[in-house]
Amino acid sequence: MRSVPLRGHVRVPGDKSISHRALIFGALATGTTRVRGLLEAEDVINTARVVSALGASAEKRGDAWEVKGRGPGGLRQPVTPLEFGNSGTGTRLMMGVVAGHPITVEMTGDASLSRRPMRRVLGPLMQMGLQVLEPGKETLPLTLRGSSELIPIVYPLPVPSAQVKSAVLLAGLHAAGETTVIEHEATRDHTERMLRHFGADVRIVDKDGARHITVRGDAELAGRDILVPGDPSSAAFLVAAALIVPGSDVTIEGVLVNPTRTGLYTTLQEMGGDVEFLNQREEGGEPIADIRVRSSALEGVRCPAERAPSMIDEYPVLAAISAFAKGTTQMDGLAELKVKESDRLQATATGLAANGVAVRVDGDSLIVEGRGHIPGGGHVATHLDHRIAMAFLTAGLASEKPITVDDTTMIATSFPEFLGLMETLGARFQEAPQT
Ligand code: S3P
Repeated sequence: MRSVPLRGHVRVPGDKSISHRALIFGALATGTTRVRGLLEAEDVINTARVVSALGASAEKRGDAWEVKGRGPGGLRQPVTPLEFGNSGTGTRLMMGVVAGHPITVEMTGDASLSRRPMRRVLGPLMQMGLQVLEPGKETLPLTLRGSSELIPIVYPLPVPSAQVKSAVLLAGLHAAGETTVIEHEATRDHTERMLRHFGADVRIVDKDGARHITVRGDAELAGRDILVPGDPSSAAFLVAAALIVPGSDVTIEGVLVNPTRTGLYTTLQEMGGDVEFLNQREEGGEPIADIRVRSSALEGVRCPAERAPSMIDEYPVLAAISAFAKGTTQMDGLAELKVKESDRLQATATGLAANGVAVRVDGDSLIVEGRGHIPGGGHVATHLDHRIAMAFLTAGLASEKPITVDDTTMIATSFPEFLGLMETLGARFQEAPQT
């Protein structure tokens, strides 16, 4: 059953990456940080609980979250394990923070997070002086012991990961001297922007096609006000829905359009999508815009590997709407998709195939044959992955037969308002009868 046209002006909740960082940097700053527009989803609430367990209180007062920071190096030994739920970002960034404190902490997470690779963060942090008390173990649960005498390093990122970059820079704030991360592919730069906003000395130099990002270890961060813009990775589902449901015209106000995050939007425009950034402005050191989208006839495109870091969380929904385009869409450079909340490369391909789409995985590429429509009628296994659930619920708004997903509860990890906002625009979802 296809949706009626989607129409209206809406806002999406705050950006998840910026929300985690606002709480974490607030905890490391001296004085109070007030955060408006914080994403109140499970992943971020877990980070708020974690920084509170470490002695920096994070609480909602009125319409803002207030973090009472303890200054760099000032966090305390927690009395309970730190529980991160589903969140790789919370976990990995906090590993960088814990590394710089003389405390011992146990970190735990749900079944999805407990399968995700932590070596990429533990490796450089151990070079700096972090100890892992279960030698050789590389997945949660883990017990870590930090140090007040971290050694600064120069670290070329072996994978294009903002989480790894941020963990090393956060540890670097606590090391004696300058710590440098070198990235060959630009990843989201919210850590660099926000560290500067808090008063840290961050130097960025482009050299031989790479970015060298350096922080000084004697950082004095001061509590700040932060306004979190709308999350472009959440807006992506509304944009995709409006593109594929005929007659739609939707505007999403106040969305982050930092170029390290907008690869999906570039790709949709290349596909012929009527997607516009209106009223572009800057708020709190980040570019934002209102995104207007109208349903469009889409054409398949080749989405280059170098664009992957700027749209890494958007491939499931891009793949889903590629099936509504005419022609082949090939998405290259997707190795990192295999280690997200699920193996998203496989989960996306399997879900599309179950709904009658011709799709294949070739190494690190995903290739979707767009036929202008999706038969639908299939069941999708979500593997505790919020973006798989939302991508297929979105596709189901325009498929011939309904698409069923096996679980929606984990949508609350990043976008609790998803179903409600879609319904505000005109979409309808149904609980599937028990089989
Ligand atoms: C994030 C970085 C990305 C992204 C995740 C959030 C961040 O992960 O997938 O949802 O806030 O730094 P990687 O840095 O591991 O690619």
